[in-house]
Amino acid sequence: MQISYDLTGELDRTLRETASRTDGFNDDFSPEIRPADLRFGDYQANGVLPFAKKYGLNPREMAEKLIEALGEDESMDVDLAGPGFLNFRFTPAFRLAWMQKYSSIHDFREAFQASRKPFRVVVDFSSPNTAKQMHVGHIRSTIIGDVIARLFDFGGNEVTRDNHVGDWGTQFGILILAIKRSKSDLEDLGQDSIAKLEDLYREGNQLIAEDESFRMEARSELVKLQQGEKENIGIWEKVNAISLASFLHVYERLGIRFDDILGESFYRDKVDAVYEGLTKHAICEESEGAMVVFHREHKRFAKQPFIVRKSDGASNYATTDLATVCYRVEKLRAEEIVYVTDGRQQDHFSQLFLTAEKWFAAEGKFLPHLSHVWFGTILGEDNKAIKTREGQPVKLLDLLDEAIARAKVIVRQKNPELDEIEMEKRSRIIGLGAIRYADLSQDRTLDYVFSWDKLLALQGNTAPYLQYAVARIRSIFRKLKMEPGSGEEAASAPVTESENLLARKLIYFPSVLEQTQRELKPHHLCGYLYELATDFSSFYNSDKVLVDDPDVRARRMLLCSRTLLILETGLELLGIETLAQM
Ligand code: ARG
Repeated sequence: MQISYDLTGELDRTLRETASRTDGFNDDFSPEIRPADLRFGDYQANGVLPFAKKYGLNPREMAEKLIEALGEDESMDVDLAGPGFLNFRFTPAFRLAWMQKYSSIHDFREAFQASRKPFRVVVDFSSPNTAKQMHVGHIRSTIIGDVIARLFDFGGNEVTRDNHVGDWGTQFGILILAIKRSKSDLEDLGQDSIAKLEDLYREGNQLIAEDESFRMEARSELVKLQQGEKENIGIWEKVNAISLASFLHVYERLGIRFDDILGESFYRDKVDAVYEGLTKHAICEESEGAMVVFHREHKRFAKQPFIVRKSDGASNYATTDLATVCYRVEKLRAEEIVYVTDGRQQDHFSQLFLTAEKWFAAEGKFLPHLSHVWFGTILGEDNKAIKTREGQPVKLLDLLDEAIARAKVIVRQKNPELDEIEMEKRSRIIGLGAIRYADLSQDRTLDYVFSWDKLLALQGNTAPYLQYAVARIRSIFRKLKMEPGSGEEAASAPVTESENLLARKLIYFPSVLEQTQRELKPHHLCGYLYELATDFSSFYNSDKVLVDDPDVRARRMLLCSRTLLILETGLELLGIETLAQM
């Protein structure tokens, strides 16, 4: 048996190749290989059983033949369990070799890059609407999108981070109406100008709810804007500038950057090509004066139209999104586009993707791989969408400030003697890390309950727990006055049970990265890091590291420094900073 290092895919291939030379097996033997239950080994292959069943053969006998054919391997032991499962267990010698092979972040990057051919990808994320402040609902797209972009970066891909802000919507008719009526001076809204804009927007909404004539007026302001009337364009530009400044403030606090912030309005003069293309290929039709697309082959979208031009002739979200796909293909030569929004937009993106597929196919053009990475809602502790006590959406900036303030209480309790600068720094890293991690550690498709106590807890699947594990390992090296990674050549293979358990967990890291990228679900990485930190803790409690015996010590120090490396690499991918001391 010749099994190359850590990826289950290799194991899979080895097994198939061996099977093809073994009596009784044939081409349709397709084992499913996955990390095994602790009791059994590192990987388990299921597949002999169903295969044998299909051909009416004895599964255990077949499995035994296969094991014999696999032969001896110094890196892997294999045995048979139950009715026909194959269990693979790495040998301690292999674990040592693995740890020595992956000794820096570059080694992981290289392995990850080798797992998939690099591609050009656009990550469309955050994308708030202008004229409003970013509230808690925007945090998920912002953070999940950032982590996906980081992961793609790590994979050596060409990543464009694009913030597709909503700056061309119907909100402007209402807002312009309110601005004009209140005679507000946009140059002089004072300190919190974005909040003032929100108030104005609210006033505008009240106006149109009260009086039909205001509704008509708002509509005509919007039409004027869309036709490029100077005054309204001027107001619109100022509103966008104020909004963008307030968004950037949030991004800076969160450490998020973008390559492009083009926004919907950028595509407004590119929509004619959409109408023409869809009409030319008879993909759209007219319905009640609007231009719509039905997808007859689809259960729901056969009846539910995808409106690409409104009956008043105006473009909409769908039109600009179709134009955006074209732009990203033509100008950015994107091979993949990932859209990160909440789950309520699933229909929009399904219809968008179906429409784009038909259009691009009709033109014989290459269409990038499109995926909608959607997420659930953040709930308050009452299990309803999170709101302030006054029933308003929670402002993102306020949430971040509160996280830092709450972290500060914890930091001060632990280290009352710290100077103010260090106190601030640690509070920021812990507070923001906790917020990020709370969001990332949940399966993104689920709603989650936002709880301050839980996300800041030093125990459990939280950022502070992982940051604490990092600080603890760093302190071991500090005590020894050693740099992590030094003197590793002297290390020998793991011996004790907890050494082996920890080493075993380390080896899963590359396949966890791969799974996280495949499903675009950061919680896989979080869950793994949490398990790793827990295994480290068990190891540290049962096996003393700072012993006199130089062999034992070297062996255990290697485990410490690899755990540290993987925790830090993982947290870096999650955009979470760490501390040398906590
Ligand atoms: N502005 C939209 C919203 O707030 C999200 C935009 C997502 N991106 C896109 N290309 N449609 O819901």
